[in-house]
Amino acid sequence: MKNMDLNNLLSQMTIDEKIGQLVQFVPDFYLSEKKGEITGPLNELNIIEDVIWNSGSVLGSDNAQDMIDIQKKYLEKSRLKIPLLFMADVIHGFRTVFPIPLAVGCTWDMDLAKRSAEIAAKEAALSGTNVTFSPMVDLVRDPRWGRVIESTGEDPYLNGLFAVAFVKGYQGNMTDEYNIAACVKHFAGYGAVEAGREYNTVDMSERTLREYHLPSYKAAVEAGVELVMTSFNTINGIPATGNSYLMRDILRKELGFKGIVISDWAAVQELIPHGIAKDGKEAAKKAIEAGVDIEMMTSNYVNNLRELIEKEEIKEELLDEAVLRILRLKDKLGLFENPYRSANQQKAEEVYLCKEHREVAREMAHKSFVLLKNDNILPFSKEKNAAIIGPFANNNRVLGPWAIQGKEEEAVNLLEGIQNKIGKEKVVAVEGCTISGEDKSNFAEAIEVAKQAEVVILALGEDQDMSGEAGSRAYITLPGVQEELAKEIFKIGKPTVVVLFNGRPLELTSWYKEAPAILEAWFPGTETGNALADVLFGDVNPSGRLTMSIPYTVGQIPVYYNCYNTGRPKNEGPKGYRFLSQYIDIPNEPLYQFGYGLSYTEYSYGEIKLNKAVMKCGEKIRATINVKNIGKMSGIETVQLYIRDIAANTVRPLKELKGFKKIYLEPNEEKQVVFEISEDMLKYYNFNCNYLSEKGKFTLLIGHDCENVKCAEFELI
Ligand code: NOJ
Repeated sequence: MKNMDLNNLLSQMTIDEKIGQLVQFVPDFYLSEKKGEITGPLNELNIIEDVIWNSGSVLGSDNAQDMIDIQKKYLEKSRLKIPLLFMADVIHGFRTVFPIPLAVGCTWDMDLAKRSAEIAAKEAALSGTNVTFSPMVDLVRDPRWGRVIESTGEDPYLNGLFAVAFVKGYQGNMTDEYNIAACVKHFAGYGAVEAGREYNTVDMSERTLREYHLPSYKAAVEAGVELVMTSFNTINGIPATGNSYLMRDILRKELGFKGIVISDWAAVQELIPHGIAKDGKEAAKKAIEAGVDIEMMTSNYVNNLRELIEKEEIKEELLDEAVLRILRLKDKLGLFENPYRSANQQKAEEVYLCKEHREVAREMAHKSFVLLKNDNILPFSKEKNAAIIGPFANNNRVLGPWAIQGKEEEAVNLLEGIQNKIGKEKVVAVEGCTISGEDKSNFAEAIEVAKQAEVVILALGEDQDMSGEAGSRAYITLPGVQEELAKEIFKIGKPTVVVLFNGRPLELTSWYKEAPAILEAWFPGTETGNALADVLFGDVNPSGRLTMSIPYTVGQIPVYYNCYNTGRPKNEGPKGYRFLSQYIDIPNEPLYQFGYGLSYTEYSYGEIKLNKAVMKCGEKIRATINVKNIGKMSGIETVQLYIRDIAANTVRPLKELKGFKKIYLEPNEEKQVVFEISEDMLKYYNFNCNYLSEKGKFTLLIGHDCENVKCAEFELI
């Protein structure tokens, strides 16, 4: 449709029809005969059934037949027959489930991230989904917060690259039948909730917001993301969902966002308990004035906007602009021509978990595993008899949180994967204990089985419900008696690898020294067992790198690599000197730092060569470094480039990731890696929030992770 036609359609709509477009409910409201009576929820929301047949979008339908039934019934009942828009949380895959987003972060592989989003979009589109509430691009520094599973980590530059990859993967150019619209979330600052407690307060300087938390949103907007979701939190005293500075000034005016803003679930209503609205009417007024177009799952708009407009407390133009944005997206998706779009359950069933999709899930899992420790025991030989011990030994709860459309029974668990790899007769699996239980009565059996085996795989971790939304934890150690079980097994002295299943960096400090090897597996998704077996038995060399620091202990949090030096940096005082920025009982550093990850081979780095040591404004310089595989196995190395601005008008972090290259090296092979450094890479937000570069000296750091680097200096003149 042309813009003119959409305006024409808008002009035919009554106020109630317009308000209806701003309303979103779950499928049960429309499919009452299928799902039972809906009177309860309607009463709770204080709405009548007519509102349902006037609404604009649906949340959470993930089956083509449901979508078709709802849309059909809706079009029969509604006057103007404007099709519904179907949105759902498709977070890390649809039926083919990919590793959790934090694990995807550890791949440092944008092409693969994009490919996974394309696959998720195809499976979702065939199942009747038009919009996904993904990607979450919130920067995270606090592993107590359960939602770190949904982020790609603690670095603004990497988060921005992943934001683009996901948005492009889901949306393509929005013309293909399998493209779906992406909704970037949660705007803004949600990743910084105080003390890692879900839905908690956020308070940060504007500079911090711009430097760390907004770049991924900027990148998503530039990549053409169609929707933005508000966050639940208060930011600097104003809840994000009622924050016009955030949405009108920053998002729309500065970043140039033209798409739809949707509230998070009930976030408009929550303006009341937050304490900036006395009732639903004031909440609706504040949210629409702040720029929220769609109210998710509560009824403040539908119950109050009409009166607000009639009493001239808000302008009808506010409503019109929101409706137009929604109509535009419906039009872009082709819903006016074909309200059912690509929904086709039969075709969907053929595509779900097809060979190609499984292969991508397996490759992504390979690349997302981070080898934290290896005392020369991995990879295991396929000839050996293996014991798998622990609550994840034979457990299908490996899809991770937010795998809503995934089915646990379709996942390959660890035992199955290892059986596929070395043969059923060579593997025994025993649980030993449950994830959180206190019962140790099965330890004896586990110890016996471990004694009989030649190699031991200890499959430990947190249940998937312990992270994700509302999954904050104060103790981020292994739950229950798992650590005790592990220590018993270590004592036996067999080659033992701990494989960790978790949605957040865990605290490993009290046992990691005793473990001969540790592989961080996160929640790997559908292909869990196969992918793990490939890595544990040496068919694939692990290459994942941490994008979120693993803390030494909770007392350090937030601990992140791109921090400031302070005036009394720990490493610069005389030995034994007390008055430094340090703890007296633990190191300052995390246990495993950003960018870290081992492989079955080793790489050596030459020195950095610069083509010139002085950069004139607007010019580029070239840094070259040789990287050699000095081990016995081919592998993928992620060569990382960091920059430090030594003296600026506003303090700069010790280092900031500015680039990286993934290179494949055969044993003994050496490659020259070249980075171009531009003035743009030196820019930052100064005290007044101006984005600029400043003349002076910079250190360039290139290496294997944020600590193991070679350095060179250059000057911007
Ligand atoms: C609440 C979550 O915060 C958000 O991420 C999600 O998309 C919505 N619920 C919809 O399910």
